[in-house]
Amino acid sequence: MGTSTGRTAIVTGASSGIGRAIALRLGAAGIQVFVAGRRAAALADTVAAVVAGGGTATAVAADLRDLSAIERLVDRATADTGRLDVMVNNAGVSYRGTLADGDLDQWREMLEINVLAMAVGSRAAVRAMRACGAEGHIVNISSSATRLESPGFYGATKTAADAITASLRRELENDTIRVVNIVPGATATNLARHHPEVVLGLATAVGQDIEPTDGLFTDRALEQVANAAGPALAHPDDVARAVLFAITQPIQLNISEITVQPARRPPARS
Ligand SMILES: NC(=O)c1ccc[n+]([C@@H]2O[C@H](COP(=O)([O-])OP(=O)(O)OC[C@H]3O[C@@H](n4cnc5c(N)ncnc54)[C@H](OP(=O)(O)O)[C@@H]3O)[C@@H](O)[C@H]2O)c1
Repeated sequence: MGTSTGRTAIVTGASSGIGRAIALRLGAAGIQVFVAGRRAAALADTVAAVVAGGGTATAVAADLRDLSAIERLVDRATADTGRLDVMVNNAGVSYRGTLADGDLDQWREMLEINVLAMAVGSRAAVRAMRACGAEGHIVNISSSATRLESPGFYGATKTAADAITASLRRELENDTIRVVNIVPGATATNLARHHPEVVLGLATAVGQDIEPTDGLFTDRALEQVANAAGPALAHPDDVARAVLFAITQPIQLNISEITVQPARRPPARS
């Protein structure tokens, strides 16, 4: 068991990818983790993996586009454990496409999850952390897409999220609540699930033959691509270690932002 026993965390979007890796790291550090997402079976896998790592986890299946579900998620964690110490707003969705031909439903979904759910999750976490006197951390998962010359609608939602994160950090400087922005670069996950050609192109470029099932690649297939890509693609756990670092620093410190970029740019896709 790790050094953070007695703390409670929530990780949204923990049914896969970066969120699952964060839940595993926090669980192994002794933090009781509440993991949220829509896919109950995938969340159960996350819980089982946390338990296998010696931790404790609870699954809360919810569609976080329903903003009241986020409030209920925070209420559940505080009702069960009496506290909230870490809130990781990780759930995210990405659609590509031009602005000229943009799909309004996709824009709305990105705004609802990447911006509103993050803001509502942060607000609920502040209230819960203040109520229990926590030395707390709110961790928001941004994206290196914000730094592109042409970030598109997805990058725009993450830029909005960055502005909220920075404002919240300033607002809470007299609280014992620190606000951390984590900026991942290209990481081997199913984030591009609506555009499997992205992962397939990468896989082909690094000589891997993988196929999605129902639009999703298995963790094993993603791991295979990340290993073959070497320093051109990050693993979800690379991001998770940055989160663990940030939330285990003294509360007098603001670890304002950590960028986790693979050392090289991704290989050109075929
Ligand atoms: N992978 C990258 O290269 C990369 C780079 C920069 C930033 N990021 C950011 O990292 C974060 C995690 O993404 P990932 O790469 O790990 O991709 P992922 O495996 O697709 O994870 C996304 C998570 O968000 C959850 N989610 C999406 N819509 C939701 C909804 N309506 N309600 C509840 N949960 C929802 C998904 O759960 P369900 O499907 O079960 O609902 C899933 O667990 C995102 O914020 C993403 O923008 C990723």
